[in-house]
Amino acid sequence: MVSTYDPFQVEQPETTFKRLHELRAEGPIVPIGEGMYYVTSYEEARRVLRDVEHFSSAEGFRAPGVTVPAEDRMLGEQDAPQHPGVRRIVMSAFNPAAIRLEEDFVRQRAHALLEAIDTSGTVDMVPAFTTPLPNDATVHLLGFPMDDATRIAAWSKEVMESEWPAMNRTARGEGMEGAFPEYTAYVDHFVATLREEVAAGKAPDGLLTRLITADVGGEHLSVRQMRALVFNLLLGGLTTTAQLLGNVIYQLLISDSVAQLAGAGADERAAFIEECLRVYPPVMLIPRGCVQETTVAGTTVRPGERVIVGSACVNRDESLFDSSEEFDAGRANVERHLTFGFGPHICAGAAMARSVALIGLDEFLQFANVRRARLPAGFTYENVPTFFEYGPKTMPVVFDAPA
Ligand code: HEM
Repeated sequence: MVSTYDPFQVEQPETTFKRLHELRAEGPIVPIGEGMYYVTSYEEARRVLRDVEHFSSAEGFRAPGVTVPAEDRMLGEQDAPQHPGVRRIVMSAFNPAAIRLEEDFVRQRAHALLEAIDTSGTVDMVPAFTTPLPNDATVHLLGFPMDDATRIAAWSKEVMESEWPAMNRTARGEGMEGAFPEYTAYVDHFVATLREEVAAGKAPDGLLTRLITADVGGEHLSVRQMRALVFNLLLGGLTTTAQLLGNVIYQLLISDSVAQLAGAGADERAAFIEECLRVYPPVMLIPRGCVQETTVAGTTVRPGERVIVGSACVNRDESLFDSSEEFDAGRANVERHLTFGFGPHICAGAAMARSVALIGLDEFLQFANVRRARLPAGFTYENVPTFFEYGPKTMPVVFDAPA
């Protein structure tokens, strides 16, 4: 029997999680129509994510019938043989040492953003803090001019909230170039300038320089391949980490735990973030396209069909996590969540996201504790309008609230 669930539809969290609970009860893999299956079981989810022989990333992410030309594919949309080589280069910039080098910059930005807040009224933390912090961190890591950070953030948010993630087009045109010509021209110009600096032996050492000079199967990456990767890094790091920070602030305020966590150590704070990642996953699903017939938990999946790994669903699997729908920052096995994926495509920016979130939380706790922060009366959480994301559209906070 085919279940009614449309993972490409933006829903509010209560509706989604109620439906995911029902899907788990239906079985480890559930047909959801239009040649799609939804995986609800932890073991099967990990098996599908590991299995690059039967499941393609290129055929997974976009809405049914939408195919992205090979040159325009982001890292997360590439398959072997191209994917492992490009991923190796990208990962060389996201290693723990490189992330540690960014920490002072991120802390100083977090502090400055909070200090700039006018606490006399209600403050929406999304534009004030949760969006600019991860954006500035990525812009700095990639070597773009910090003066451009605000427009990069605005462009990226516009992309993520448009139909482009699902359709690879908007009313303006096809692909990034057609749908967002100004943003594309800006990125292309930056990369072209860097290429000239590389040719002149004057390029700064950094991730983009390494990508430009990289040998991928005997060739360099083309203009379009570079563009797709740069967008992957700019877009992949921004809204996802912004949703995480928004969810962390929300959980802190609804559970009234600012003062308690302000007195806690780094491990306790990191555990709080990890549980936020499990219960409120900024990315709710990981799609794959079947390229070779196989079976998943006894169900035959054929080429052309789609398997959606329900990370948001698996994260609340009651056979894996006790009282799985509840937030418990002391949960022993929280690290088993699949919010960053699993296997060869596991999130390239996970260490960076965790680092930005921890620094953001540290600084917010200090600020909010001193200023006695609370949610305004009657606030209702509304999800962002991106089909695969979970994060607050607005996060109003009242500071200097009476004790
Ligand atoms: C809380 C924040 C984040 C979440 C929840 C998240 C989630 C994910 C997930 C689930 C995947 C795996 C997709 C798959 O298997 O197909 C992924 C891949 C990826 N993420 Fe993230 N991400 C986050 C932050 C970041 C950041 C900060 C960056 C970079 C600045 C980033 C860059 C990437 C890239 C490049 C990939 C593709 C990896 C590959 O296919 O090899 N992400 N992310």
